[in-house]
Amino acid sequence: MTKFPRIETERLILSELKEEDLPLVTQYLQDKVFSELTSNIPYPYRKEDAEFWFKISREAFDKRKGFTFAIRDKNEQMIGAIGLHDEGSDKAEMGYWLAKPFWNKGYVTEAAKSVVDFGFKELGFNKIYATYFPHNPASGKIMQKIGMEEEAILKQHLKKDGKYYDIPMYSVFRDQD
Ligand SMILES: CC(C)(COP(=O)(O)OP(=O)(O)OC[C@H]1O[C@@H](n2cnc3c(N)ncnc32)[C@H](O)[C@@H]1OP(=O)(O)O)[C@@H](O)C(=O)NCCC(=O)NCCS
Repeated sequence: MTKFPRIETERLILSELKEEDLPLVTQYLQDKVFSELTSNIPYPYRKEDAEFWFKISREAFDKRKGFTFAIRDKNEQMIGAIGLHDEGSDKAEMGYWLAKPFWNKGYVTEAAKSVVDFGFKELGFNKIYATYFPHNPASGKIMQKIGMEEEAILKQHLKKDGKYYDIPMYSVFRDQD
């Protein structure tokens, strides 16, 4: 793969992050809910945080270890992001976020289905997994809707604001069906 991939779904385009997306990302991630529901989005979210995320995403793709797609509408406006991160042994972790005005329209389910398919067919992964905080049931629902199954509850796996959380882990396998 020489260029960053581009995937089209019924309502979405998944493509490379672009410098022009930086202001929107910074604006979207101002909402504290993103830090509450994820392990890696800081609050407050500054322009520098977005710049750092763009940089590490670019570097990961240069090594073909990370594939972070902007989720865009058909006018190419960025509305969120979804990524696969190579964790060795042909397995990848998937992560995603969507700007709040676009929640509950099935967009991340649509994006995640196509990214999992791409991960198996084009990137050669054997296993794709994802985790979520118990207070984020919408994310767990996405995992179920794209055919993942609960594999484990990782006990006291993440600490947030001084509290340890048991974290459900869901996975799907290339040759599952
Ligand atoms: C989680 C998140 C990605 C969901 O994206 P989305 O595009 O709104 O998700 P979808 O619309 O594809 O699917 C969400 C599903 O959860 C359901 N849902 C929403 N809120 C829910 C709740 N409180 N309890 C149970 N189910 C809920 C929706 O009804 C929908 O299911 P349905 O299609 O069967 O009706 C988005 O809310 C987000 O970006 N949150 C902050 C960042 C984050 O949590 N990232 C994931 C970290 S693991």
